[in-house]
Amino acid sequence: MGKVLIVDDEPSMRRILAANLRLDSHGVVEAAGALEAKTILAGEDFDVVLTDQKMPDGNGLDVLLAAKQGDPTTSVIFLTAVGTLELAVECMKEGAFDFLTKPFVPDAVRAAVKRASERTALLRENAVLKTAVLKLEGPDEIFGESESIRAVREMIGRVAPKDTTVLITGETGTGKELVARAIHRNSLRARRPFIAINCASVSETLIESELFGHERGAFTGADQMRTGLFEAAHEGTLFLDEAGELSAAAQAKLLRVLADGEIQRVGSTKTRHVDVRVVAATHRNLRDRVQEGSFREDLYYRLAVLPIHLPPLRDRREDIAGLCDVLSTRIAKEMKVPRRPLSQAAMIKLTQYRFPGNIRELRNLLERAHILGQHPQLQPEDFPLNPATTAELKPDAELDAGQLAALLPGHLDLREVLGKIELALIERALNATDGVQAEAARRLNLSRSDMGYKTAKYALGKR
Ligand SMILES: Nc1ncnc2c1ncn2[C@@H]1O[C@H](COP(=O)(O)OP(=O)(O)OP(=O)(O)O)[C@@H](O)[C@H]1O
Ligand SMILES: [Mg+2]
Repeated sequence: MGKVLIVDDEPSMRRILAANLRLDSHGVVEAAGALEAKTILAGEDFDVVLTDQKMPDGNGLDVLLAAKQGDPTTSVIFLTAVGTLELAVECMKEGAFDFLTKPFVPDAVRAAVKRASERTALLRENAVLKTAVLKLEGPDEIFGESESIRAVREMIGRVAPKDTTVLITGETGTGKELVARAIHRNSLRARRPFIAINCASVSETLIESELFGHERGAFTGADQMRTGLFEAAHEGTLFLDEAGELSAAAQAKLLRVLADGEIQRVGSTKTRHVDVRVVAATHRNLRDRVQEGSFREDLYYRLAVLPIHLPPLRDRREDIAGLCDVLSTRIAKEMKVPRRPLSQAAMIKLTQYRFPGNIRELRNLLERAHILGQHPQLQPEDFPLNPATTAELKPDAELDAGQLAALLPGHLDLREVLGKIELALIERALNATDGVQAEAARRLNLSRSDMGYKTAKYALGKR
């Protein structure tokens, strides 16, 4: 059963309550007033707090606030002689679990404490499950076995716990935001805010106030003081997406906060100190922007202390099959549809595609195919690819060996795999020629005696 704190200034009251609660095997601690309760709550967590309303050294609401501050899952029950409706409403508003009046009916108190302790247990279980889910999605959510993605994962592991600025580069849809979140989650700031802003989607005039806040009257339309995202992200991480698009003024301010952690709201001369880790991302080549003069060189060096580059999907085709697997599982779960594997032909079609939208595009294609596909396996026609970007799609005969190899796992028995491919190709040729070996041999550019030898080897029989 639960751990209960009884708060009441009357010793006899505490004694009767404690005796009753022990009948239900609760662990009971007593406090003789609001102050003592606060001291106890500062050092220990309870499942349930049962508190009197009016005490000489404070009231029940003080106790409630102290309890919630220590552990928000604690359930608080008020027990009061002055049972007015207004008071009950106020307590409930502040987050009390229940409200009972004195003189109390012992069974009613026992029942209320039991419900309260069950509620706390549920809330805690929920919180544990949530962290477990987060962990499950952890860095492994950045999927891929290719050399380059392994290196990215390793880099995330190394840079996350440090407080350094990170610059993530990569084409659209390569997972920049995913990486930024993984860095935050694996850092010491994980329990503090992660705030993301897309610098390209805020106008040049507003970006400064968005990031650093503004004072009332700082500019036309600023009729309220506003804190900026740097202040909101205090002790956490600020993700500056598309940082290449920052205005010159915002770049200057950003440089300052990176250099000495100081910001000024727009329209204010007061400096404020913030403790924020900046993770920036861009799909552009920032060095080119520096050359053009549209990005400050000093800021570039500050941001790019630790660069992480995400390779486009077409440069790591060996990850496509595995990504299809992982993404299909997620899609099936999220959309509550049956998970469908890709037919071999569909897989070949995808591995030959350029993926200008990278993993996001792959995910969208798979989603669409899962909704619209007509067969248990996804077929090539379930993936309508943009012809302008399928230039690499070649007829079977010219299939690129690298692309074919990309379909296979990294660790394999070469002889066995080559044997299987040989067998599959001979079978296909024999099927296509209705079993006429001479014709099949011609299609495969094999001599008839080689063909004879191989069909015997694979026991394909003669027709
Ligand atoms: N390695 C990966 N493993 C699994 N899913 C991934 C991976 N990389 C990206 N994704 C998924 O692809 C989608 C796009 O990722 P994300 O939004 O992080 O890309 P981005 O680089 O920020 O794109 P943009 O530049 O367009 O903002 C997301 O749904 C993300 O979960
Ligand atoms: Mg993004």
